[in-house]
Amino acid sequence: MNRMLLTRLVLSPKGGNSSRCFTTTAVGDAMNLFERIAGVKYHQSSMLTSVSQWRRAASTEAAAAATSLAEKEKKEENSGEEGRKKEGAVVSSYWGISRPGITREDGSVWPWNCFMPWDTYRSTVSIDLSKHHAPKNFADKFIHRTVKILRIPTDMFFQRRYGCRAMMLETVAAVPGMVGGMLLHLRSLRRFEHSGGWIKALLEEAENERMHLMTMVEIVKPKWYERLMVLAVQGIFFNCYFVLYVLSPKMAHRFVGYLEEEAIHSYTEFLKDLNSGAIENVPAPAIAIDYWRLPKDATLKDVVTVIRADEAHHRDVNHFASDIQFQGNQLKEAPAPLGYH
Ligand SMILES: [Fe+2]
Ligand SMILES: [Fe+2]
Repeated sequence: MNRMLLTRLVLSPKGGNSSRCFTTTAVGDAMNLFERIAGVKYHQSSMLTSVSQWRRAASTEAAAAATSLAEKEKKEENSGEEGRKKEGAVVSSYWGISRPGITREDGSVWPWNCFMPWDTYRSTVSIDLSKHHAPKNFADKFIHRTVKILRIPTDMFFQRRYGCRAMMLETVAAVPGMVGGMLLHLRSLRRFEHSGGWIKALLEEAENERMHLMTMVEIVKPKWYERLMVLAVQGIFFNCYFVLYVLSPKMAHRFVGYLEEEAIHSYTEFLKDLNSGAIENVPAPAIAIDYWRLPKDATLKDVVTVIRADEAHHRDVNHFASDIQFQGNQLKEAPAPLGYH
């Protein structure tokens, strides 16, 4: 026990947390402390001799331990770097930034850098999918009609190619949360006021939609003209939604609410085709299994089911946000549904 304590005290680096410099003063301090704790009582002369021997022994032991520790660390560092080089990853030790070792619950290495285990969740698939916000005023009716009209060219272009349709629409669906979150963020900075959690809630939605896209793109590989279309649609949609959010956030949120109702419909049709065998029910991509904590043998059907549940949550969040503002209140006055998936 005393020996362990001595070794720990002697080996403790002096000063900064990253310093590996062991000094004789540190050894001396440690020895003095050890002597006090151990309650060693010697006559002056014999104590000096004994302590001097201890100090020499401790210094030698400390030096040997420090050398072996440094060698061990160097070895680990080198093997880590070699491993990363083999994997083709960028070594970012120059800035002192290194990713901590993260594992799954079963102990296997966490393979994703784009999201961490604490970003994952089990989707609430019991959510009511049939909920619909009945248009109550002219603004609601106008937006509802606009979304229905926008669906016509989408149906004509994609028809029943639901994988492709989902992938393309997710590139659009991830825009409103980012625009809304960004504008609320800027408003918070300008007015020196809290957002009530709405910045985070909208950015969470954008990130969740982007994960839908990252998943769908594993299943459907976009063709060159589809990528070109994404560029054009994003350019137009981002600017239109930005202007709409600046002019009327309540209409912007209502628009997203209706868009999500359409997304639920599209994913329901997707599931019908998966059930009928018109679309092959392939195994779920690894990214989806980790993100939604799905079983290892999950299939595309499971993935579409959890994505559809997410869309239902987005529908509720956006209709709620719109309702708050239609009632003459500001978003910050109502608690944001953070972590609501
Ligand atoms: Fe989505
Ligand atoms: Fe959505």
